[in-house]
Amino acid sequence: MTDAVTWNFSDRHIGPDAQGMRRILDVVGVDTLDELAAKALPAGILDKRDGDVADGLEVLDAPLSEHEVLAGLKELASRNTVATSMIGQGYYDTLTPPVLLRNIIENPAWYTAYTPYQPEISQGRLEALLNFQTMVADLTGMEVANSSMLDEATAAAEAMTLLRRANRKSKSPRFVVDSDLFIQTAAVLATRAEPLGIELVTANLVDDGLPEGDFFGVILQVPGASGRVFDVAPVIDAAHERGALVAVGADLLALTLMTPPGEKGADACFGTTQRFGVPMGFGGPHAGYLAVNGAHTRNLPGRLVGVSVDADGAPAYRLALQTREQHIRREKATSNICTAQVLLAVLAAMYASYHGAEGLTGIARRVAAHASGLAGSLRSGGVEIVHAELFDTVLARVPGRAAVVVAAAIERSVNLYLVDADHVSISCDEATTHTHVVSVLAAFGIAAEESAGDEPVSIPEELARSSEFLQHEAFTKYRTETAMMRYLRRLSDKDLALDRTMIPLGSCTMKLNAAAEMEAITWPEFAGLHPFAPADQTGGIRELVSDLERWLAAVTGYDAITLQPNAGSQGEYAGLLAIRHYHLSRGDDHRDTCLIPSSAHGTNAASAVMAGMRVEVVACRPNGDVDLDDLRAKIADHAERLAAIMITYPSTHGVYEHEIEDICGAVHDAGGQVYIDGANLNALVGLARPGKFGGDVSHLNLHKTFCIPHGGGGPGVGPIGVRSHLTPFLPGHPAAPELGGVGPVSAAPYGSASILPITWAYIKLMGARGLRQASLTAIASANYIARRLDEYFPVLYTGANGMVAHECILDLRQLTKDTGVTVDDVAKRLADYGFHAPTMSFPVAGTLMVEPTESEDLSEIDEFIAAMIAIRGEIDRVGAGEWTVDDNPLRGAPHTAECLVGEWTHPYSREIAVYPLGKGRAKVWPSVRRIDGAHGDRNLVCSCPPLEAYSS
Ligand SMILES: Cc1ncc(COP(=O)(O)O)c(C=O)c1O
Repeated sequence: MTDAVTWNFSDRHIGPDAQGMRRILDVVGVDTLDELAAKALPAGILDKRDGDVADGLEVLDAPLSEHEVLAGLKELASRNTVATSMIGQGYYDTLTPPVLLRNIIENPAWYTAYTPYQPEISQGRLEALLNFQTMVADLTGMEVANSSMLDEATAAAEAMTLLRRANRKSKSPRFVVDSDLFIQTAAVLATRAEPLGIELVTANLVDDGLPEGDFFGVILQVPGASGRVFDVAPVIDAAHERGALVAVGADLLALTLMTPPGEKGADACFGTTQRFGVPMGFGGPHAGYLAVNGAHTRNLPGRLVGVSVDADGAPAYRLALQTREQHIRREKATSNICTAQVLLAVLAAMYASYHGAEGLTGIARRVAAHASGLAGSLRSGGVEIVHAELFDTVLARVPGRAAVVVAAAIERSVNLYLVDADHVSISCDEATTHTHVVSVLAAFGIAAEESAGDEPVSIPEELARSSEFLQHEAFTKYRTETAMMRYLRRLSDKDLALDRTMIPLGSCTMKLNAAAEMEAITWPEFAGLHPFAPADQTGGIRELVSDLERWLAAVTGYDAITLQPNAGSQGEYAGLLAIRHYHLSRGDDHRDTCLIPSSAHGTNAASAVMAGMRVEVVACRPNGDVDLDDLRAKIADHAERLAAIMITYPSTHGVYEHEIEDICGAVHDAGGQVYIDGANLNALVGLARPGKFGGDVSHLNLHKTFCIPHGGGGPGVGPIGVRSHLTPFLPGHPAAPELGGVGPVSAAPYGSASILPITWAYIKLMGARGLRQASLTAIASANYIARRLDEYFPVLYTGANGMVAHECILDLRQLTKDTGVTVDDVAKRLADYGFHAPTMSFPVAGTLMVEPTESEDLSEIDEFIAAMIAIRGEIDRVGAGEWTVDDNPLRGAPHTAECLVGEWTHPYSREIAVYPLGKGRAKVWPSVRRIDGAHGDRNLVCSCPPLEAYSS
């Protein structure tokens, strides 16, 4: 008989079992995890603890089982009321095809993938993103679209700064904003403009034309926030005549019926793809979009997928023009966007594939017919309709009665948008039915018999779309569920996600995203909420938000948390804005210098510039730590102007710098604020709290430490924690007065709220003990890898006692010098061994950074180590001259099944190529050979290529 075992969730989340952990600790040379913590972390920052509960974490409840947590979430969900939403304003109900829900959103093959930096093992999601780009470009009539933005409002803000860069002829700081933008778009524009010295001039462009004076650009939206449909061409032409460039926000569903802005001469086009199958989710996540005409391609922020060729000449996809991106350009970056909204972009693109041009047009016609029918009935019932020409949104004028009408609609379970005391706005969407329309009429006091029924769409003939769109096979071939299911499977089979292998990407924390954590995100009680729904309908999600704020404050040691930023980069930006406003509030307007160590992530410098700061780089010592002498010198040089330091802890070099308290102290003494980048919090939770060891503000990446899956490059959530003096400067929102604070950084008050249940569940499941155990295990496993691989690939940086934190950097530079084998070769070769590569050349060129996380068990870690050791053996054979540097299994990697069947001329065997360690580990076949990135950049193609391209 065996003893009965009761498993806790933390036993399921944490990979190594007791025996495995014993072996790990033996190799690391410590007896216990606590001894490891004492050796690795500086004593001064290590939290005290009571048993296994660290200081601060006593506020967390005892851990619950998965079923108990799900019951807790159900209870919270039951406190939300999902009314029919006709609020609109950028968020619409949509019918997610079940085949997409199950095979994308609920499928770890899609949601556990990382950003496709290793394109050879990411062809599936790259193809899906290329479809997204094609969809956006086709519908907007623009030449190039990127592969998603964080939301519509930030896409608008990026469009504004793009126009400023692109308009070399205008020196004007003025930017004209149409008065009919969504309130959140206008508010995010205002937040972004101020630190950059952009002066916003608001004008009613359609009625009054362009204002006097110079300006570099103009932004408008069609349909307008008021629902008005109009011709954008006169505004665009007039602006061009005055030397200004124009960005147009456009609703993609409306563009199936209307001439797209690209055909009217727009320079940029932005918006959201939310209503393409992505639930409203109390505000997000959804994929925003940004598209430009070809002249501005190199100015586009964010990720851009392009077509290239692999080593065998076959078409292959990869991220194009990467030198534009913030991680390369740092303080010269023009945008800080890094994590985007890949999973939601994939969903929106597949929604377009499934419906095709005809299906989307059919949906649009239905929506428009409901809206014009509603407008007609209201008119016949004596209600004044403000705009006769409309797509989905009806603006009704009811002097003095608006609140009464909205309340009457709520009684009928329908939410309308209260514009002001005299106006109500009603948006129809894919889910609108005749019954809803009848309820709305009743709220206005109009009987159903008076309903005019559906009417022809109210889009004027001269604005009707005549051009074709979505004619590529990607949008015509997958109309049956069988075809779509197989397409999605075929694509995801090309990718290495966490469901097949460990993904040891340093600085990315690819840990388990447990099924129980994921479950609630698609429940209608969370997914079906409009971000502006009345507070008394959203009690459950609001309580979840406040639980999380409390728990994250405890974990980080800060006084307040905001969950609004929808990526780590946006958290950085929000945190730096808080610092900026704090200094300004004290009259310290000269404090504009941000110190950033040379090892920092590229987003740090980019965010600082966006927050109106000058970046001063602080050197690192040969051991990787911040050079305190250089820091002191820089502080002295910039004393008067010092605004802040941004420092990552543990550092991007994967070590706990022992002088962190001195660093924070030196900056504080000089009147600066300390921003601690918390992207590496996986090595701190339950051990040390940045808010207690010197930080004034930190962002956390919930999509790293707190189990939100990476989704192939988003969604993410980047909350910030602040000490109390910065609380007044947290982001607010025009539709959420309860937030207070300054301007918003994201479109929705609570950012990507619908994925917060993931983090809520993780913390509930782990409890204080489990969270601490997770951090310690992550550190132990990283140190185990460092010890085991050091003799093959020297570990570049270690801290006190030779310890690393939760990741380690393997230095290949000498090997490259000696043999010609590069980090690229090793990264690609790992795919032949069935592994995803570690992070390549960040933060140090020529190195690999490995982060195992706590979720990998010892056997998976050992298999990875075995693969790395075998690769070292291969490098030695190149070094020994047995294989040439140009023809060896590393340079030839990755190897596809197809490459085996032709003539084989290599000096190594087919077996070595594809089964280098024999047949032990399940083979994952890369779908393409090494991709030629430069070729793709020279011959830029960023939408689906014609089919003939694939036949060659
Ligand atoms: C140290 C560090 N800071 C900031 C970020 C930015 O976070 P995000 O990608 O969510 O914008 C990252 C992301 O990789 C990071 O590693």
